[in-house]
Amino acid sequence: MASRFFDHGKLERNISLLGLAALVTVAIGGIVEIAPLFWIDNTIEKVEGMRPYTPLELAGRNIYIREGCYNCHSQMIRPFRDETERYGHYSLAAESMYDHPFQWGSKRTGPDLARVGGRYSDEWHVQHLKDPRAVVPESIMPTYPFLAERELKTGDMTGDLTALSHVGVPYSKDDIASANDDLKAQADPGADSADLVKRYPKAQARDFDGDPARLTEMDALVAYLQMIGTLVDVDAAKPQENGRKEGGK
Ligand code: HEC
Repeated sequence: MASRFFDHGKLERNISLLGLAALVTVAIGGIVEIAPLFWIDNTIEKVEGMRPYTPLELAGRNIYIREGCYNCHSQMIRPFRDETERYGHYSLAAESMYDHPFQWGSKRTGPDLARVGGRYSDEWHVQHLKDPRAVVPESIMPTYPFLAERELKTGDMTGDLTALSHVGVPYSKDDIASANDDLKAQADPGADSADLVKRYPKAQARDFDGDPARLTEMDALVAYLQMIGTLVDVDAAKPQENGRKEGGK
């Protein structure tokens, strides 16, 4: 039926016209959703405590990615009761804001690791990574004993930090210049880590792999695991009971 303003019959009988009209309609919907993102400064709300990774944590994270830990472990706790009761406070967007690439993951053969930091001792992690069955008899996780044998390659962190600073991670010139020293200082119980902790609040400095004489890949990976999910005081940052903040994404 032809309306007073518009002949709908004509539109329905002309496939090109209908296609064009559909495209315009869908485009309007798309623009309404997308356009605001160009004007708001940041889709991630800043939360207190989030900082870039220390060089040692970053080296551990690189090993985590190299070994494909993400194939079995996610790092994102969803705001559902079954998840928060098992893993802890749900993940905030800001907690992965310096992750390039992020490690949310899509598969949980093993448990989510988004709040694993501080849950176990360093010794437990070292034991578990060398031989998971030694601490969790029914575990199907692969063994990674070689991590404790391999020297951590130390030359690369300057490049890593530089690359990350190019994509927006706020490493200062100071951080980049002292990347290699920081890397060693964090795992050396004899080193003065005050400067490191000043630049990277809450950085945990100690020997992680049980062998203070050597800097191994195990040191880096355990340092990374012990840091995950510990930087932000989530209860203080908690906006509302249901986890949604006005305007938050
Ligand atoms: C083939 C799948 C698989 C891979 C790959 C894997 N894991 Fe696991 N992981 C598991 C399973 C299953 C468990 C639960 C049993 C256990 O604790 O060993 C687990 C448990 C863990 C836990 C204890 C978590 C908790 O909350 O109890 C940590 C930490 C962990 N894995 C770290 C790693 C790291 C680091 C890597 C890479 C070096 C890795 N996993 C690779 C399957 C895997």
